[in-house]
Amino acid sequence: MSIRKLYIETYGCQMNVVDSEVVVAILQQHQYSLTEDIDEADLVLVNTCSIRDNAEQRVRARLKDFRKLKNKKRPVSVGVIGCMAERVKEQLLEEEPVVDLVVGPDAYRDLPALLQEVESGQKGINTILSLEETYGDIRPVRMDRNHVTSFVAIMRGCNNFCAYCVVPGTRGRERSRDPETILREATDLFSKGYREVTLLGQNVNSYRWKEGKSPLKFEKLLERVAGIDPSFRVRFATSHPKDMSDELLKVIAQYPNLCRSIHLPVQSGSTSVLERMKRRYTREHYMDRIKVIRNYLPDATISTDIIAGFCGETEEEHQQTLSLMKWAKYDFAYMFKYSERPETFAAEKFKDDVSEAVKTRRLSEIIELQSKLSLESKEKDVGQSFEVLVEGTSKKSEEQLYGRTSQNKVVVFPKNDLKPGDYTEVTVSACTSATLIGA
Ligand code: 5AD
Ligand code: SF4
Repeated sequence: MSIRKLYIETYGCQMNVVDSEVVVAILQQHQYSLTEDIDEADLVLVNTCSIRDNAEQRVRARLKDFRKLKNKKRPVSVGVIGCMAERVKEQLLEEEPVVDLVVGPDAYRDLPALLQEVESGQKGINTILSLEETYGDIRPVRMDRNHVTSFVAIMRGCNNFCAYCVVPGTRGRERSRDPETILREATDLFSKGYREVTLLGQNVNSYRWKEGKSPLKFEKLLERVAGIDPSFRVRFATSHPKDMSDELLKVIAQYPNLCRSIHLPVQSGSTSVLERMKRRYTREHYMDRIKVIRNYLPDATISTDIIAGFCGETEEEHQQTLSLMKWAKYDFAYMFKYSERPETFAAEKFKDDVSEAVKTRRLSEIIELQSKLSLESKEKDVGQSFEVLVEGTSKKSEEQLYGRTSQNKVVVFPKNDLKPGDYTEVTVSACTSATLIGA
């Protein structure tokens, strides 16, 4: 078979970014080479997200664009992979005639075989979820631009079944990856010049690997990755407040290269909403976790995810979210309107009864408050100096570089003789709500 050209587009979370890199690794073993030019591709893959309805709508629109690729003389195959492939399954083949191939997140090893079916004129589909697949032995082909920061998946799937969430349905049960393969991959990244790795999982705090008598838990794994080299920064996402342990924070406190930034999605500040969301913690428990983080890691930033307008959310419950945000003084937040997802607990048991107008208004109150908090968080840093890992040239000026602090804040500063991958001490002279500006 002659070499085929693969073009891949990725939507959704960082886990999808790594999955795309796994897919490229698998297909490179089977006569495919990567192209960044869709017009020369023989195979176009879209790695999709289902988390909110608008994520799926974006993919549907993109599939419409792909129709014109099919009008070319050369045959082009189009595949939908990832969460939306898993959720919508064969219906995608019916509803979107442009699609030749549908492959769920646990079936990527089957891609070469499925592509042969597609070559012979059939449609290919595999959406079987697995209890074991971690792609642990596959070394992802990196597609990042900066060659400084990268991601390593340490587990897959999710067992939490938050009432609003499609992920347990699209990514299946939780399973942890062999620590040896994680360490090998991280060490390899470091030796190639990468200086930061983010360990990824839907709920990293429940990472467990059975080794001898006692299982290897997340904090031990983190310690091992931190041990690769003191100049190799390590981050992780995402933590679940119900499982975030003191032991983990103690380990972070011991290693300066374990980054001082914790992402702890709260979703809502109201205990009754959290209960409906099946988050399995209360407002008080969450506040206690924040206090413990501040106690062990006084210089850490804390970021969060918030959903506005979940089923039955009252004005008072919404106010509780705002008051918790003020109390926690989040440094950064991802904020969303609740989007009902088919077949989730919430879709089946509750009414999506907060009107669109109210969701919009509540979300904008949340965003407005967060912009204030984000600005305050940056203003605190003015006059102070931070160790910054250089990631690349600033979008706005060739003479400026950008990088991040251990606290995960973006800093823009003069180039001098620095290059990506270097560490430099930067004194912050000014800021916006999104960026620190270095002298
Ligand atoms: N609607 C809106 N936001 C959602 N998230 C997950 N599911 C939904 C949904 N149905 C948000 C949560 C999660 C983040 C990744 O996406 O805040 O932490
Ligand atoms: Fe990632 Fe969730 Fe979107 Fe799947 S549905 S791509 S796990 S954010």
